[in-house]
Amino acid sequence: MTDGPWGARLRALTSTDLEPVLAIEAASQPTPWTLSNFRDCLHSGYRCQLATVDGEPVAFMILSSVLDESHLLNIAVTPAWQRRGLARWMLRRALAEADAAGHSLMFLEVRDGNRAARRLYAELGFVETGRRKGYYRTRSEEREDAVLMMMEIGGGHK
Ligand SMILES: CC(C)(COP(=O)(O)OP(=O)(O)OC[C@H]1O[C@@H](n2cnc3c(N)ncnc32)[C@H](O)[C@@H]1OP(=O)(O)O)[C@@H](O)C(=O)NCCC(=O)NCCS
Repeated sequence: MTDGPWGARLRALTSTDLEPVLAIEAASQPTPWTLSNFRDCLHSGYRCQLATVDGEPVAFMILSSVLDESHLLNIAVTPAWQRRGLARWMLRRALAEADAAGHSLMFLEVRDGNRAARRLYAELGFVETGRRKGYYRTRSEEREDAVLMMMEIGGGHK
């Protein structure tokens, strides 16, 4: 397995990792997923991965796939480890694995106001394909659009 930045490692996320995963989620997302959301992903057989640095959980990523399409359902990096290249590395790994599995498309949704994530996705080669008006709740119980993004896999990613 190739190490990532700062010696990070990526491995399968299991039910015994849910406590640190929930902590990362709660610290980084405006409306965090619940324990049952994560359990559902594990039970559904989604690709759930945990990044560790020196054995400590620092980030996770969850993807589902249907036929030749991958869907990025969630990715988060614990605040102290943000902006150190971990998400870029994890997503490049996911894209390479999807490519190797013969997938041709990867989809995701992101909050309109999530500047950091939108910049990361655009940098990797995702393009905006549409919007879902008012799809997300905000912390103040208002609504925010989801921006739908897509990438053709197979040489497309950077
Ligand atoms: C979005 C997120 C996953 C990015 O993770 P990260 O490991 O910090 O990102 P990286 O260090 O790999 O950044 C790669 C590039 O993304 C962009 N980026 C990342 N964070 C940014 C920020 N705060 N502001 C502006 N651009 C940012 C930059 O282009 C960056 O490259 P650079 O550092 O060379 O300029 C992280 O901020 C996070 O966990 N946010 C909360 C959860 C979330 O929003 N998840 C996405 C849901 S769709």
